[in-house]
Amino acid sequence: MSPASPDIRFLFEPRGVAVVGASPDPGKIGHRIVGNLQAMGARCPIYPVNPKGGEILGLPVARTAAEIGAAVDVAVIAVPVGRVLDAAADCARAGVGFLVVVTSGYAETGNLEGERQLVAFARAHGMRVLGPNIFGLFSAKASLNAGFGPREIRPGNVAIITQSGAMGGAMIGMTAAEGIGLSAIIPVGNKADLDEADLLEYLRDDPATEIVLIYIEGVKQGQRLVRALEATTRVKPVIVIKSGRSRRGAMAAASHTGSLAGADEVFDDIMRQVGVLRAEHLQEALAWCGFLTGAPRPAGDRTLIVTNGGGAGVAAADACEKYGIPLQDDFEMLSRVFAEVTPDIGSTKNPVDLTGQATAAHYTDALRRALGEPAIHAVIAIYCETALLAFDDLPDAIQRLARAYRAAGRPVAFCLLGGTRVTECIARLRAAGVAVFNEVYTAAACLGALNAWDRHRRAAETAPAPAECDEDRAVSIDFAAVRAALGPARADGRRFLLAREGQALLRAIGMRPPRSLVAGTLEEAVAAAATIGYPVVLKIVSKQVVHKSDVGGVALDLENRDEVIAAYQAILQSCRQRVPGLRIGGVEVTEMVRGGTEVIVGARRDPAFGPIVMFGLGGIYVEVLADVAFRAVPLSQCEALSMIKETRAHRLLLGVRGEERRDIDAVTDALQRLAVLVGTNDEVTDVEINPLVVYPAPEGATAVDIRVAIRGESPPG
Ligand code: COA
Repeated sequence: MSPASPDIRFLFEPRGVAVVGASPDPGKIGHRIVGNLQAMGARCPIYPVNPKGGEILGLPVARTAAEIGAAVDVAVIAVPVGRVLDAAADCARAGVGFLVVVTSGYAETGNLEGERQLVAFARAHGMRVLGPNIFGLFSAKASLNAGFGPREIRPGNVAIITQSGAMGGAMIGMTAAEGIGLSAIIPVGNKADLDEADLLEYLRDDPATEIVLIYIEGVKQGQRLVRALEATTRVKPVIVIKSGRSRRGAMAAASHTGSLAGADEVFDDIMRQVGVLRAEHLQEALAWCGFLTGAPRPAGDRTLIVTNGGGAGVAAADACEKYGIPLQDDFEMLSRVFAEVTPDIGSTKNPVDLTGQATAAHYTDALRRALGEPAIHAVIAIYCETALLAFDDLPDAIQRLARAYRAAGRPVAFCLLGGTRVTECIARLRAAGVAVFNEVYTAAACLGALNAWDRHRRAAETAPAPAECDEDRAVSIDFAAVRAALGPARADGRRFLLAREGQALLRAIGMRPPRSLVAGTLEEAVAAAATIGYPVVLKIVSKQVVHKSDVGGVALDLENRDEVIAAYQAILQSCRQRVPGLRIGGVEVTEMVRGGTEVIVGARRDPAFGPIVMFGLGGIYVEVLADVAFRAVPLSQCEALSMIKETRAHRLLLGVRGEERRDIDAVTDALQRLAVLVGTNDEVTDVEINPLVVYPAPEGATAVDIRVAIRGESPPG
């Protein structure tokens, strides 16, 4: 049995840090790490380790970690790949908890075995590995800059987990320039051992971390990540940038850190499911971080745009629509509040346009008025550079306004548009911790991110309306019947189920295939049709007939007894004529599935996230329209409903042009059943019901066709 893992807290707050591979040579990485640790003023002792001993940057050098003789929780390893195992053994003797492995030359270059050995050794000796292939680690709490990245780190409340070292290094400089402070920056590199989920465990409860920003290229152990993200977004915003969206990008990511990128749509949907804010790119992510740090929680999402430029106001209105921000449109109230500060040529409608005549005083006045009106929940404040703008006063005025808005719990996104003077003004304000933007779309995107995070938090806090869905609704399936349905395929070494096995599986998970009976005689066929209910379909049953329609073996849409009798006789006659020596196993009488709305429901084992479910518009359009949503398992009814609502198929289910509302409960039920099937049975790798025909509520849904792939010895066909 492996020894217990060290407490993750000691990675961020070590009692001592060793640099194994510390060098007196200023050109070496091991030297730079010691220098960085000193420069930031680490709150714990620094122990350079080098077999040659001596002194580095005034610190005595231990020949081995084992001879340090004091508590060392973190060892930064900066020795060549061939020496890392020796160094790890030395660290194990010293009682080190965490190996921060800077060294490259592992999975990213194909050296999987070396990486596996390192982790196995570490775990067997009670140590955890961060990396390998990383630049080090920064933790503000311990003033610990244990890496060879930049020194100019601004301490603050944003924690960054990054899979790319270079991006991490760049983010240190970029955050400092944007006035964003960091509580920690943790590169995970090849994620050989510690990954985002382990780090979130600490960051979630760390009071010094207000926001977590994750740069991710590929997901390993997606299910763990999903659970960790879910737990973290309940208490603080998590922003994710995932590259490898494009096929080319995904290929590059795979060779960069040796991990699997996975389908981007799946990633996107699952992030939304767990309340993660997904930024398109680094600039956007940093803007969100700046805005969300210390942002008040809005009372609602009715937003006001105040501008001194009509065009900028129009652009902001467009941007609000793009980011789903509803504008306050109580024009009577707006006129009452803003008429006095708005010239006649302006507008008090939203956007409130103060026009180019507005001075900083007008601008301030309008924003103070907005603050006095409780029906305005958030403001986008735009100022375009004009000759009337007194730049000397503006930064102070904005800073005062920002303070007043924060005190009142009202989010405000400032946007200043103009040239060099504006740029200087923005830099001054950002340095003072005020989130100011130079583009209306960025300002709107920030507010959109705040609203999305707030909606997620509210949904987690308040129970959903019981009429809509039941968070606790659970479904159960018949496990023994599932095993029985899979049995024949397993016995034959098939990777797919035959039609009747698929139908048995459907019944086993509590779903409804079309009602069907096999009749041996005309009387039985008539009785079966009456039992099933009209209209019905008749089909010949014979192992000699593969394409039933070709030999006249199918009759559709039979409305009554007489039609069934006529069709039965016609089918037998036609088949006997066309297939000499025909042996008939009977005639299958099946429910004629018609009406209803066709959707597709499915489930599969995603290489990154494990079991996931899928919903989309059904029938022949699914591939063309790509109108699908994904979720990770387990799946609550409310989550199932939210994935349906994400698609255009939802509108069809609600009924268009006077149609009745379809039985959406039956669809959420089907999705939950599939979630239980793939969540509890790793033999089923892919299951797709297409179409699931959904009837007006409360008539349920019929699974017309099911395709099931299972693990097996040989490929289908
Ligand atoms: N314990 C302690 N020190 C050891 C040691 C051991 N077991 N084995 C060797 N050393 C010492 C060496 O003697 C040397 O010290 P010296 O300068 O006094 O001789 C020091 O460790 C460094 O070893 P060296 O062989 O000089 O390696 P290096 O500094 O040229 O390179 C790495 C080491 C880790 C930097 C390099 O292998 C590497 O992986 N570089 C890429 C790092 C990277 O890019 N990471 C990803 C960032 S995103």
